[in-house]
Amino acid sequence: MPKSNVLVGIDVGTTKVGTIVAEIAEGAPLNVLGLGLSPSRGVQKGVITDLEAVTESVASSLDKAERLSGYKIGSALVSIAGGHVACQQSKGSVDVPEGAEIGPAEMHRALDAARSIELPGQREVLHVIPRQYVVDGNPGVKDPRGMTGFHLELDAHVVTAHVGAVNNVLKVLDRVGLEADELVLQPLASAQAVLTEAERDLGVVLVDVGGGTTDVAVFIEDAIWHTAVLPLGGNNVTNDLAIVLGIPVEVAERLKVEVADVTPVPEYANAGPPDAGESVTVETFGGERKTVSRDLVHQVVDSRLAEIFSMVQTEIRRSGYDDMIPAGVVLTGGTARMRGLAERASKLLGEPVRLGVPSGMTGLSEAVSSPAFATAVGLPLWRARSLGSPSKLRRVPSGRRGTPLRVFDWFREFLP
Ligand SMILES: Nc1ncnc2c1ncn2[C@@H]1O[C@H](COP(=O)(O)OP(=O)(O)OP(=O)(O)O)[C@@H](O)[C@H]1O
Ligand SMILES: [Mg+2]
Repeated sequence: MPKSNVLVGIDVGTTKVGTIVAEIAEGAPLNVLGLGLSPSRGVQKGVITDLEAVTESVASSLDKAERLSGYKIGSALVSIAGGHVACQQSKGSVDVPEGAEIGPAEMHRALDAARSIELPGQREVLHVIPRQYVVDGNPGVKDPRGMTGFHLELDAHVVTAHVGAVNNVLKVLDRVGLEADELVLQPLASAQAVLTEAERDLGVVLVDVGGGTTDVAVFIEDAIWHTAVLPLGGNNVTNDLAIVLGIPVEVAERLKVEVADVTPVPEYANAGPPDAGESVTVETFGGERKTVSRDLVHQVVDSRLAEIFSMVQTEIRRSGYDDMIPAGVVLTGGTARMRGLAERASKLLGEPVRLGVPSGMTGLSEAVSSPAFATAVGLPLWRARSLGSPSKLRRVPSGRRGTPLRVFDWFREFLP
């Protein structure tokens, strides 16, 4: 394995495209060499709806990341999300040649067996992630290499996605002249950036509330047990404010970021929040000004966030693992910056909730130390920790392909 390697992650979000160039070395923190941030156009609820617009956003973000890092980018890990994503558990069983030790070949075969699930024509497998191996009926094996046995079984978490949505991400990459190292489901990437090993071991839920989506991933015994992407996020909060108050979306966005606060009010405080009764002046259409009460702002924001967290709770219960998450919930994504949200979410979910912010990096670390960058930072970490199975990405048939001046020869030992 090379001593260090440079990896590129592109997070194609609903509100922003974030490209990160980072150096990964064994035993060293992620060294951020470059970052490119551009407003995202042509993405709705995590899904590409306008190829041309997204291509421009990705190109602009890439360009910035290349300038800042001094690297010419040839390939990248790219995030994918959307309500079309689904997950299921799958088993892959293989016989081991008599007297042979279990090695990568058997593990690959088990992985391929777990991958071959029946799917409707419009869906394809995005990830096959090993959870545990069972060697001759003995469960709980994390790494069976070197063991002897007759039968190897793999329990895997399989993530599937809509073929069209996957193809659109590949098309965008092709248009900007990049190879896809791998497409990574957004919550799986975010989890790499903000969860601790102890949390993943104990049982924890990652909740990434972005602009257009809320992603959920359940980790138990250091493995992925459940993933989901809900089609609601911070943009819904902004739109609600715009509609209820009759103000432009940009004004509503500022009001949300600068004023809204969802800190739960203690039951003994009859007076409500500290700024109860106060009002704030905002611009309406045509430059006119009007006064709105802070209480109303808090209420509108709170009711949409309560709806989002009720959906999160339903999803956690639906997973069937709701009593296996003693480490509670780690909240990330841009909306996690909302004042009081961790505390409010904890009340709504009845679980401990902490804020997850990417940390422990070197280089341009400050620029990405925000919950909005959890996915982008998580992408190179995902590859470095080699959690997934190699993606079988199809090439996009036609179109111009740029000649990468430098192809990152990423390192990986994809099995544990
Ligand atoms: N200080 C803040 N308070 C409240 N909300 C905030 C704050 N800062 C950013 N946001 C919200 O975070 C959202 C963007 O988050 P993020 O950057 O994680 O989204 P994204 O990755 O582009 O979208 P998605 O992951 O949903 O596709 C926006 O709705 C924005 O209004
Ligand atoms: Mg996001």
